[in-house]
Amino acid sequence: MAENYKNILITGGCGFIGSNFIRHLYKRYPNYKIFNLDALTYAGNTENLADIEKDGMASKGERRYQFLKGDVCDALFLGNLFAEQKFETIVHFAAETHVDRSIFNVSDFVRTNIDGTHALIAASRKYKIPRFIHISTDEIYGSVPEGVSKENAALKPSNPYSTSKACADLLVQSYINTHNAPAIIVRGSNNFGTYQYPEKLIPLAITNIIENEKIPIHGNGEHKRRWLHVEDFCEALDMVMHRAPLGSIYNVSGEEKSNMEILSIIAKVLGVDLDAYKTHTNDRPGADYRYAPDSTKINKELGWSPRHSINEDMPHIVSWYRNNEDWWRKIKAKKEYRDHYLKQSLAQWY
Ligand SMILES: NC(=O)c1ccc[n+]([C@@H]2O[C@H](COP(=O)([O-])OP(=O)(O)OC[C@H]3O[C@@H](n4cnc5c(N)ncnc54)[C@H](O)[C@@H]3O)[C@@H](O)[C@H]2O)c1
Repeated sequence: MAENYKNILITGGCGFIGSNFIRHLYKRYPNYKIFNLDALTYAGNTENLADIEKDGMASKGERRYQFLKGDVCDALFLGNLFAEQKFETIVHFAAETHVDRSIFNVSDFVRTNIDGTHALIAASRKYKIPRFIHISTDEIYGSVPEGVSKENAALKPSNPYSTSKACADLLVQSYINTHNAPAIIVRGSNNFGTYQYPEKLIPLAITNIIENEKIPIHGNGEHKRRWLHVEDFCEALDMVMHRAPLGSIYNVSGEEKSNMEILSIIAKVLGVDLDAYKTHTNDRPGADYRYAPDSTKINKELGWSPRHSINEDMPHIVSWYRNNEDWWRKIKAKKEYRDHYLKQSLAQWY
Protein backbone atom coordinates (compact mmCIF):
# COMPACT_ATOMS: atom_id res chain seq x y z
CA MET A 1 0.00 0.00 0.00
CA ALA A 2 1.43 3.32 -1.09
CA GLU A 3 0.28 5.02 2.14
CA ASN A 4 2.35 2.59 4.22
CA TYR A 5 5.60 3.53 2.53
CA LYS A 6 8.24 5.54 4.33
CA ASN A 7 9.71 8.23 2.10
CA ILE A 8 13.51 8.43 2.17
CA LEU A 9 15.49 11.11 0.33
CA ILE A 10 18.99 10.28 -0.85
CA THR A 11 21.07 13.09 -2.37
CA GLY A 12 23.87 12.24 -4.79
CA GLY A 13 22.42 8.76 -5.37
CA CYS A 14 23.80 8.54 -8.92
CA GLY A 15 27.37 8.59 -7.62
CA PHE A 16 29.49 5.72 -6.31
CA ILE A 17 28.45 5.33 -2.65
CA GLY A 18 24.95 6.81 -3.03
CA SER A 19 24.00 4.28 -5.74
CA ASN A 20 25.33 1.38 -3.66
CA PHE A 21 23.36 2.64 -0.66
CA ILE A 22 20.13 3.02 -2.66
CA ARG A 23 20.52 -0.57 -3.91
CA HIS A 24 21.12 -1.70 -0.31
CA LEU A 25 17.99 0.08 1.02
CA TYR A 26 15.84 -0.92 -1.95
CA LYS A 27 16.60 -4.61 -1.46
CA ARG A 28 16.42 -4.67 2.32
CA TYR A 29 13.40 -2.45 3.02
CA PRO A 30 10.40 -3.17 0.79
CA ASN A 31 8.38 -0.54 2.67
CA TYR A 32 10.75 2.30 1.70
CA LYS A 33 10.03 4.64 -1.17
CA ILE A 34 13.38 6.07 -2.21
CA PHE A 35 13.76 9.45 -3.87
CA ASN A 36 17.16 10.10 -5.44
CA LEU A 37 18.00 13.79 -5.88
CA ASP A 38 21.04 14.21 -8.09
CA ALA A 39 22.28 17.01 -10.36
CA LEU A 40 24.07 14.52 -12.67
CA THR A 41 27.45 16.22 -12.66
CA TYR A 42 30.34 14.45 -14.43
CA ALA A 43 30.34 11.96 -11.50
CA GLY A 44 26.61 11.18 -11.57
CA ASN A 45 25.45 8.32 -13.77
CA THR A 46 21.89 7.00 -13.95
CA GLU A 47 23.30 3.71 -15.29
CA ASN A 48 24.58 3.03 -11.75
CA LEU A 49 20.96 2.28 -10.84
CA ALA A 50 19.66 0.82 -14.11
CA ASP A 51 18.64 -2.43 -12.35
CA ILE A 52 16.64 -0.59 -9.68
CA GLU A 53 15.04 1.72 -12.24
CA LYS A 54 13.90 -1.31 -14.24
CA ASP A 55 12.66 -3.12 -11.15
CA GLY A 56 10.70 -0.07 -10.05
CA MET A 57 9.06 0.25 -13.46
CA ALA A 58 8.03 -3.39 -13.32
CA SER A 59 6.50 -3.40 -9.87
CA LYS A 60 2.73 -3.37 -10.31
CA GLY A 61 2.36 0.34 -10.79
CA GLU A 62 3.83 1.12 -7.37
CA ARG A 63 7.26 2.55 -7.95
CA ARG A 64 9.53 2.40 -4.94
CA TYR A 65 12.34 4.33 -6.58
CA GLN A 66 12.16 7.77 -8.12
CA PHE A 67 14.96 9.78 -9.68
CA LEU A 68 14.72 13.57 -9.39
CA LYS A 69 17.17 15.66 -11.36
CA GLY A 70 17.96 18.67 -9.21
CA ASP A 71 20.59 20.67 -7.42
CA VAL A 72 21.02 20.55 -3.63
CA CYS A 73 21.88 24.26 -3.74
CA ASP A 74 18.45 25.13 -5.17
CA ALA A 75 16.50 26.20 -2.05
CA LEU A 76 13.30 26.83 -4.03
CA PHE A 77 13.39 23.35 -5.53
CA LEU A 78 14.04 21.82 -2.10
CA GLY A 79 11.19 23.83 -0.53
CA ASN A 80 8.70 22.62 -3.15
CA LEU A 81 9.91 19.03 -2.85
CA PHE A 82 9.78 18.99 0.95
CA ALA A 83 6.32 20.57 0.96
CA GLU A 84 5.09 17.87 -1.43
CA GLN A 85 6.76 14.76 0.07
CA LYS A 86 6.89 13.89 3.73
CA PHE A 87 10.41 12.53 4.14
CA GLU A 88 11.23 10.37 7.17
CA THR A 89 14.98 10.53 6.62
CA ILE A 90 17.46 12.35 4.40
CA VAL A 91 20.86 10.82 3.67
CA HIS A 92 23.06 13.50 2.15
CA PHE A 93 25.85 12.16 -0.09
CA ALA A 94 25.81 14.80 -2.85
CA ALA A 95 29.18 16.48 -3.11
CA GLU A 96 32.11 17.32 -5.29
CA THR A 97 34.47 14.58 -4.20
CA HIS A 98 37.73 14.50 -6.09
CA VAL A 99 40.73 16.10 -4.33
CA ASP A 100 42.60 16.57 -7.63
CA ARG A 101 39.67 18.47 -9.12
CA SER A 102 39.44 20.68 -6.04
CA ILE A 103 43.00 21.81 -6.71
CA PHE A 104 42.03 22.88 -10.22
CA ASN A 105 38.66 24.44 -9.41
CA VAL A 106 37.62 25.15 -5.84
CA SER A 107 34.39 27.07 -6.46
CA ASP A 108 32.29 23.99 -7.35
CA PHE A 109 33.42 22.49 -4.02
CA VAL A 110 32.45 25.55 -2.01
CA ARG A 111 29.12 25.74 -3.80
CA THR A 112 27.95 22.13 -3.57
CA ASN A 113 29.67 20.97 -0.41
CA ILE A 114 29.05 24.04 1.74
CA ASP A 115 26.15 25.98 0.17
CA GLY A 116 24.40 22.72 -0.83
CA THR A 117 24.66 21.25 2.67
CA HIS A 118 23.37 24.53 4.08
CA ALA A 119 20.38 24.67 1.71
CA LEU A 120 19.51 21.09 2.55
CA ILE A 121 19.79 21.25 6.34
CA ALA A 122 17.94 24.60 6.41
CA ALA A 123 15.07 23.09 4.38
CA SER A 124 15.10 20.01 6.63
CA ARG A 125 14.72 22.25 9.64
CA LYS A 126 11.93 24.31 8.07
CA TYR A 127 9.97 21.19 7.06
CA LYS A 128 10.77 19.33 10.32
CA ILE A 129 12.37 16.26 8.73
CA PRO A 130 12.88 13.83 11.66
CA ARG A 131 16.34 12.49 10.67
CA PHE A 132 19.18 13.98 8.62
CA ILE A 133 22.29 11.84 8.02
CA HIS A 134 25.23 13.86 6.77
CA ILE A 135 27.98 11.96 4.95
CA SER A 136 31.33 13.41 5.92
CA THR A 137 34.86 12.10 5.46
CA ASP A 138 38.00 11.18 7.43
CA GLU A 139 39.91 13.69 5.28
CA ILE A 140 38.63 16.53 7.48
CA TYR A 141 41.06 15.44 10.25
CA GLY A 142 43.98 16.17 7.93
CA SER A 143 47.14 14.11 7.81
CA VAL A 144 47.81 11.97 10.91
CA PRO A 145 51.43 10.74 10.81
CA GLU A 146 50.95 8.60 13.92
CA GLY A 147 48.10 7.33 16.08
CA VAL A 148 44.42 7.58 15.17
CA SER A 149 41.67 10.21 14.86
CA LYS A 150 38.74 9.78 17.21
CA GLU A 151 35.51 11.68 16.60
CA ASN A 152 36.52 14.48 18.99
CA ALA A 153 39.87 15.13 17.27
CA ALA A 154 40.52 18.62 15.91
CA LEU A 155 39.64 19.18 12.26
CA LYS A 156 42.73 20.16 10.26
CA PRO A 157 41.85 19.79 6.59
CA SER A 158 44.59 20.64 4.16
CA ASN A 159 43.15 20.68 0.64
CA PRO A 160 40.12 22.48 -0.83
CA TYR A 161 38.02 19.27 -0.95
CA SER A 162 38.60 18.33 2.68
CA THR A 163 38.21 21.94 3.77
CA SER A 164 34.83 22.24 2.06
CA LYS A 165 33.76 18.97 3.69
CA ALA A 166 35.02 20.18 7.10
CA CYS A 167 32.93 23.35 6.68
CA ALA A 168 29.87 21.25 5.85
CA ASP A 169 30.53 18.98 8.85
CA LEU A 170 30.84 21.99 11.19
CA LEU A 171 27.75 23.58 9.71
CA VAL A 172 25.72 20.45 10.46
CA GLN A 173 27.20 20.41 14.00
CA SER A 174 26.16 24.05 14.42
CA TYR A 175 22.57 23.13 13.44
CA ILE A 176 22.64 20.31 16.00
CA ASN A 177 23.97 22.63 18.73
CA THR A 178 22.02 25.78 17.92
CA HIS A 179 18.73 24.47 16.54
CA ASN A 180 18.66 21.00 18.07
CA ALA A 181 18.59 19.67 14.52
CA PRO A 182 17.91 15.91 14.40
CA ALA A 183 21.12 15.21 12.51
CA ILE A 184 23.86 12.59 12.65
CA ILE A 185 27.29 12.82 11.02
CA VAL A 186 29.16 9.85 9.55
CA ARG A 187 32.83 10.23 8.61
CA GLY A 188 33.83 7.47 6.22
CA SER A 189 37.32 6.46 5.18
CA ASN A 190 38.33 5.70 1.56
CA ASN A 191 35.69 3.45 0.01
CA PHE A 192 36.24 0.89 -2.72
CA GLY A 193 33.78 -1.24 -4.67
CA THR A 194 31.54 -1.43 -7.72
CA TYR A 195 30.41 1.64 -9.73
CA GLN A 196 33.30 3.83 -8.57
CA TYR A 197 34.10 6.58 -11.06
CA PRO A 198 37.29 5.51 -12.89
CA GLU A 199 39.39 8.54 -11.99
CA LYS A 200 39.78 7.22 -8.39
CA LEU A 201 42.79 5.03 -7.55
CA ILE A 202 41.35 1.50 -7.54
CA PRO A 203 39.09 1.63 -10.63
CA LEU A 204 41.70 3.72 -12.44
CA ALA A 205 44.38 1.11 -11.82
CA ILE A 206 42.17 -1.85 -12.74
CA THR A 207 40.84 -0.28 -15.95
CA ASN A 208 44.22 1.12 -17.02
CA ILE A 209 45.82 -2.31 -16.66
CA ILE A 210 42.97 -3.87 -18.68
CA GLU A 211 43.58 -1.19 -21.34
CA ASN A 212 47.34 -1.77 -21.14
CA GLU A 213 47.89 1.84 -20.03
CA LYS A 214 50.29 3.13 -17.39
CA ILE A 215 49.00 3.99 -13.89
CA PRO A 216 49.94 7.53 -12.79
CA ILE A 217 50.95 7.45 -9.11
CA HIS A 218 51.16 10.66 -7.08
CA GLY A 219 54.61 11.05 -5.49
CA ASN A 220 56.17 7.88 -4.08
CA GLY A 221 52.78 6.20 -3.53
CA GLU A 222 53.50 5.56 0.15
CA HIS A 223 50.46 7.57 1.33
CA LYS A 224 48.31 5.52 3.66
CA ARG A 225 44.52 5.32 3.73
CA ARG A 226 42.03 3.08 5.56
CA TRP A 227 40.22 1.20 2.81
CA LEU A 228 36.57 0.37 3.41
CA HIS A 229 34.42 -1.86 1.20
CA VAL A 230 31.38 0.15 0.10
CA GLU A 231 29.06 -2.66 1.28
CA ASP A 232 30.56 -2.38 4.78
CA PHE A 233 29.98 1.36 4.66
CA CYS A 234 26.35 0.79 3.58
CA GLU A 235 25.86 -1.58 6.55
CA ALA A 236 27.26 1.08 8.88
CA LEU A 237 24.96 3.73 7.39
CA ASP A 238 21.99 1.38 7.73
CA MET A 239 22.76 0.98 11.47
CA VAL A 240 23.21 4.72 11.91
CA MET A 241 20.02 5.47 10.01
CA HIS A 242 17.93 3.12 12.16
CA ARG A 243 19.60 3.05 15.56
CA ALA A 244 22.01 5.90 16.22
CA PRO A 245 21.10 8.60 18.73
CA LEU A 246 20.43 11.99 17.16
CA GLY A 247 23.32 14.42 17.42
CA SER A 248 26.01 11.72 17.24
CA ILE A 249 29.14 11.58 15.10
CA TYR A 250 30.71 8.30 13.95
CA ASN A 251 33.91 7.39 12.16
CA VAL A 252 33.61 4.38 9.85
CA SER A 253 36.94 2.99 8.84
CA GLY A 254 38.60 0.10 7.01
CA GLU A 255 42.03 -1.55 6.60
CA GLU A 256 45.13 0.60 6.47
CA LYS A 257 47.20 0.18 3.29
CA SER A 258 49.50 2.40 1.28
CA ASN A 259 48.62 3.23 -2.31
CA MET A 260 51.52 1.04 -3.47
CA GLU A 261 50.20 -1.89 -1.42
CA ILE A 262 46.78 -1.45 -3.03
CA LEU A 263 48.33 -1.37 -6.50
CA SER A 264 50.38 -4.50 -5.76
CA ILE A 265 47.21 -6.36 -4.74
CA ILE A 266 45.48 -5.30 -7.97
CA ALA A 267 48.49 -6.24 -10.14
CA LYS A 268 48.66 -9.66 -8.46
CA VAL A 269 44.95 -10.31 -9.09
CA LEU A 270 45.36 -9.29 -12.74
CA GLY A 271 48.57 -11.34 -13.05
CA VAL A 272 50.78 -8.45 -14.24
CA ASP A 273 54.09 -6.98 -13.15
CA LEU A 274 53.31 -3.65 -11.48
CA ASP A 275 56.70 -2.21 -12.45
CA ALA A 276 55.65 -2.35 -16.10
CA TYR A 277 52.55 -0.24 -15.41
CA LYS A 278 53.46 2.34 -12.81
CA THR A 279 54.61 5.86 -13.58
CA HIS A 280 55.31 8.32 -10.78
CA THR A 281 54.13 11.94 -11.12
CA ASN A 282 54.60 15.01 -8.94
CA ASP A 283 52.69 14.69 -5.71
CA ARG A 284 49.58 16.75 -5.04
CA PRO A 285 50.47 20.07 -3.45
CA GLY A 286 49.58 19.77 0.26
CA ALA A 287 49.17 15.99 -0.06
CA ASP A 288 48.10 14.25 3.15
CA TYR A 289 50.42 11.39 4.07
CA ARG A 290 48.06 9.34 6.23
CA TYR A 291 44.45 9.23 7.42
CA ALA A 292 43.62 7.01 10.36
CA PRO A 293 40.06 7.38 11.65
CA ASP A 294 39.24 5.10 14.55
CA SER A 295 35.86 3.34 14.41
CA THR A 296 35.74 1.96 17.98
CA LYS A 297 32.72 4.16 18.78
CA ILE A 298 30.39 2.72 16.11
CA ASN A 299 31.63 -0.76 16.98
CA LYS A 300 30.84 -0.31 20.68
CA GLU A 301 27.58 1.60 20.32
CA LEU A 302 26.00 -0.03 17.27
CA GLY A 303 27.96 -3.28 16.89
CA TRP A 304 29.36 -2.44 13.45
CA SER A 305 32.56 -3.99 12.19
CA PRO A 306 33.72 -4.55 8.60
CA ARG A 307 33.04 -7.98 7.07
CA HIS A 308 35.17 -7.53 3.97
CA SER A 309 38.92 -7.67 3.58
CA ILE A 310 40.71 -5.99 0.71
CA ASN A 311 42.86 -9.02 -0.13
CA GLU A 312 39.88 -11.37 -0.24
CA ASP A 313 37.62 -8.94 -2.05
CA MET A 314 39.89 -7.53 -4.74
CA PRO A 315 39.33 -10.51 -7.09
CA HIS A 316 35.56 -9.80 -6.96
CA ILE A 317 36.08 -6.09 -7.56
CA VAL A 318 38.41 -6.77 -10.49
CA SER A 319 35.87 -9.25 -11.94
CA TRP A 320 33.14 -6.64 -11.70
CA TYR A 321 35.18 -4.10 -13.70
CA ARG A 322 36.07 -6.85 -16.20
CA ASN A 323 32.41 -7.84 -16.59
CA ASN A 324 31.21 -4.24 -16.86
CA GLU A 325 33.63 -2.85 -19.40
CA ASP A 326 30.80 -1.12 -21.21
CA TRP A 327 30.00 0.92 -18.09
CA TRP A 328 33.51 2.33 -17.57
CA ARG A 329 34.57 2.51 -21.21
CA LYS A 330 31.66 4.90 -21.89
CA ILE A 331 32.85 7.15 -19.07
CA LYS A 332 36.51 7.01 -20.11
CA ALA A 333 35.61 7.85 -23.71
CA LYS A 334 34.00 11.16 -22.72
CA LYS A 335 35.91 14.35 -23.54
CA GLU A 336 35.33 15.60 -20.00
CA TYR A 337 37.04 12.50 -18.56
CA ARG A 338 39.93 12.60 -21.01
CA ASP A 339 40.60 16.33 -20.48
CA HIS A 340 40.71 15.91 -16.72
CA TYR A 341 42.74 12.69 -16.89
CA LEU A 342 45.40 14.40 -18.93
CA LYS A 343 45.87 17.07 -16.26
CA GLN A 344 45.67 14.52 -13.42
CA SER A 345 48.09 12.05 -15.01
CA LEU A 346 50.62 14.72 -15.85
CA ALA A 347 50.15 16.26 -12.38
CA GLN A 348 49.60 19.67 -13.97
CA TRP A 349 48.40 21.24 -10.77
CA TYR A 350 48.67 24.85 -11.87
N1 LIG B 1 34.41 7.87 -2.07
C1 LIG B 1 34.96 7.83 -0.87
O1 LIG B 1 35.96 7.11 -0.66
C2 LIG B 1 34.39 8.64 0.27
C3 LIG B 1 34.90 8.46 1.56
C4 LIG B 1 34.33 9.18 2.62
C5 LIG B 1 33.29 10.05 2.39
N2 LIG B 1 32.82 10.22 1.12
C6 LIG B 1 31.68 11.14 0.93
O2 LIG B 1 30.60 10.34 0.46
C7 LIG B 1 29.78 11.10 -0.44
C8 LIG B 1 29.65 10.37 -1.75
O3 LIG B 1 30.94 10.13 -2.32
P1 LIG B 1 31.09 9.39 -3.73
O4 LIG B 1 32.48 8.89 -3.80
O5 LIG B 1 29.96 8.47 -3.92
O6 LIG B 1 30.93 10.63 -4.72
P2 LIG B 1 30.72 10.69 -6.28
O7 LIG B 1 31.59 11.79 -6.79
O8 LIG B 1 30.85 9.34 -6.90
O9 LIG B 1 29.18 11.12 -6.42
C9 LIG B 1 28.70 12.39 -6.07
C10 LIG B 1 27.28 12.51 -6.58
O10 LIG B 1 26.77 13.79 -6.15
C11 LIG B 1 26.09 14.38 -7.26
N3 LIG B 1 26.13 15.83 -7.10
C12 LIG B 1 27.24 16.63 -7.17
N4 LIG B 1 26.88 17.93 -7.01
C13 LIG B 1 25.53 17.93 -6.82
C14 LIG B 1 24.58 18.96 -6.57
N5 LIG B 1 24.95 20.26 -6.52
N6 LIG B 1 23.29 18.62 -6.41
C15 LIG B 1 22.90 17.31 -6.46
N7 LIG B 1 23.76 16.31 -6.72
C16 LIG B 1 25.05 16.61 -6.88
C17 LIG B 1 26.85 13.90 -8.49
O11 LIG B 1 26.08 14.02 -9.67
C18 LIG B 1 27.16 12.46 -8.10
O12 LIG B 1 26.11 11.60 -8.48
C19 LIG B 1 30.46 12.47 -0.55
O13 LIG B 1 29.82 13.35 0.33
C20 LIG B 1 31.90 12.20 -0.12
O14 LIG B 1 32.49 13.37 0.42
C21 LIG B 1 33.34 9.55 0.06
